[in-house]
Amino acid sequence: MIRPAELIQRKRDGEELGSGEIAELILGYARGEIPDYQLAAFCMAVYFRGLSARETFALTDAMIASGETLDLSAALGRKVVDKHSTGGVGDKTSLVVGPIVAACGVPFGKMSGRGLGHTGGTLDKLESIPGFRVELSTDEFVAQVRDVGIAIVGQTADLVPADKLLYALRDVTATVDQISLIAASIMSKKLAAGAQAIVLDVKVGDGAFMKTLDEARRLAEAMLALGQQAGREVVCLLTDMDQPLGAAVGNALEVREALATVRGQGPPDLTELVADACARLLALSDLGIDETEGRRRANEAIASGAAEAAWRRWVEAQGGTADEAALAQAPFVAVVEAPRSGTVMRLGAIAVGNAALHLGAGRRTKADVIDHAVGVVCLRKRGDRVERGEPLAEVHAGDGASAAIAAREVAAAYEFGDEHVPTRSVLLEVVS
Ligand code: URA
Repeated sequence: MIRPAELIQRKRDGEELGSGEIAELILGYARGEIPDYQLAAFCMAVYFRGLSARETFALTDAMIASGETLDLSAALGRKVVDKHSTGGVGDKTSLVVGPIVAACGVPFGKMSGRGLGHTGGTLDKLESIPGFRVELSTDEFVAQVRDVGIAIVGQTADLVPADKLLYALRDVTATVDQISLIAASIMSKKLAAGAQAIVLDVKVGDGAFMKTLDEARRLAEAMLALGQQAGREVVCLLTDMDQPLGAAVGNALEVREALATVRGQGPPDLTELVADACARLLALSDLGIDETEGRRRANEAIASGAAEAAWRRWVEAQGGTADEAALAQAPFVAVVEAPRSGTVMRLGAIAVGNAALHLGAGRRTKADVIDHAVGVVCLRKRGDRVERGEPLAEVHAGDGASAAIAAREVAAAYEFGDEHVPTRSVLLEVVS
């Protein structure tokens, strides 16, 4: 039997712990036998000392062993693909990629999370669709992926319970932003949910956990190693999160933009990222095609309307109303105007995310109730030339007072200059 205080001390002093010791610590914690304060101290020791690749794998393995696992490929007799983003502002990529991949004949089964703080969660976005059920049982999830080709649901309570406990603890003990802990947390959920091939979108920049390309690369490499050790195929896209992705930030606004992108009418950066993610997911699938052919098939699914038809089948299968007109609309729309003529040098992702959060689009605490209609639409982004007085952004709000506050926050997120800003691809690097 391990002594938690001794493991904390050895990690604090920079020692590498045994895999069995890490497993006992995590499983003991998940069973409620080891208190929060000892795991909090352990996480802080890891924050400063890090974990080796072997320790990170042991942590991931222990978290998976704390609950049930799913073998989607065995249940469906097909290779199932999944995609995950480390979280950003305006990131509605999964809502677009899922139906496109499904329309190309590849089963897409994804378990998603909710947003906390300035980043939005896929489940919250989906719940802005009237009637949409995110809580399916495991059997319903598997049946829907088999019969409809796509399901995006909340993680079931039995899947990786240790991560739920640990993540909540890290959130309040300043130990979230540690690469091994993030890698183990994300990959334990992906591996337990059973997809054989996973595309990971690692966000980099102001609005992301990883602020620099170097940190993002290290996180990508850690997740890739965990995937490989578990026998899964993993590709990591490192993508720009210095400014919001697309124009819309806020739940129903993002669902509208996702649907427009499924129809081929999305903003350029989101469209580019969706095409990259689809090309790689299709190349990893059992279709036996390469990325070029994957990209061609994804574009064809959009152009032919097959992707939109898959969206409709998916939304209706989960009880939602596929009709766009049913999405909530905010009663107040304030327009933010350019204070001067010039070029948008920067549009801060966190500032826009926080403006949307203060409007009620996100949660400051787990108990907060989301207003699905509110948010921000960024009409102008980095590199755009604007004239004084021209609309920069729209603020969709529940009342005039919150609209005015958010409008000031959004205005402050824009920086102007007179130089040319070179266009930058949303895809910064691929680690595979
Ligand atoms: N997302 C997760 O699921 N876990 C982390 O630790 C960070 C982001």
